[in-house]
Amino acid sequence: CANPRLRQLLTDLARTLHAYTIRNDLTPQEWQRAVDFLTEAGHITTDTRQEFILLSDTLGMSSVVDALANSRNPDTTSSAILGPFYVAGPPAAEHGSDIAGGLTGTPMWADIQVTDQQGEPVSGAVVDVWQSNEDGFYDVQLPDLDGPVLRARFTTDADGRFTFWSILPSEYPIPDDGPVGRMLAAVGRHPYRAPHVHFLINAPEYQPLITQLFVRGGAYLDGAPGQRDAVFGVKDDLITDFVRRTGPTPDGRPVDGEWRLLEFTFRIARR
Ligand code: DHB
Ligand code: FE
Repeated sequence: CANPRLRQLLTDLARTLHAYTIRNDLTPQEWQRAVDFLTEAGHITTDTRQEFILLSDTLGMSSVVDALANSRNPDTTSSAILGPFYVAGPPAAEHGSDIAGGLTGTPMWADIQVTDQQGEPVSGAVVDVWQSNEDGFYDVQLPDLDGPVLRARFTTDADGRFTFWSILPSEYPIPDDGPVGRMLAAVGRHPYRAPHVHFLINAPEYQPLITQLFVRGGAYLDGAPGQRDAVFGVKDDLITDFVRRTGPTPDGRPVDGEWRLLEFTFRIARR
């Protein structure tokens, strides 16, 4: 056999689907409906929209595959799914810069450190950050922006640190105007993700870490399946305080009213 692994996967997939069909007494109409659904989903593929990714995410498949590949290690920060809004090669940004590009929102100062499993700083780590705006949209979903906003690439300093200004992310629906959105609605599920900021950390000699930080107190962090995060992305150690502050800011920038402080240390694993 040319590809024994593929043969094993396909054989068991067929067996699993047959058992599912028998268990649920699936009708020909229902199976045809499923084939039509997959056909329609397969036709939705653009740069910023892939319905099969949404299907993988909302069925919990992305999350399970991530959990298997990155099993929980108490000395390292949990991983989380990449999601469809990552753009490779975001613009390099200086420490302390503002990545919000003038978009309105609650100002947020992030003070991030990257360490190894022993807590020793990892300098020269390349960290990509991306997030939605206060209405829950990523720049790639907004028609009249010129250039990337709310995404940037930082390199950690000798203390493994970098800092930046941004705005507080909010909850947002995954794109729900297609077949996956109709599927969620038909079974009484909402399409919302809990508010989060994405991070992708690469450092020589370390395993890459793809993860997200969730705003403690935000919507959709927990609850029954169907009530919590629509793509099952939340892990306890990734829920963190985005502390409400007023008054002087760490870099002296004047801010009217409330701002948020995000301090977090990522622990990454050696290769
Ligand atoms: C994300 C967005 C999605 O639409 C999805 O299906 C999964 C993740 C995200 O940005 O995290
Ligand atoms: Fe996201």
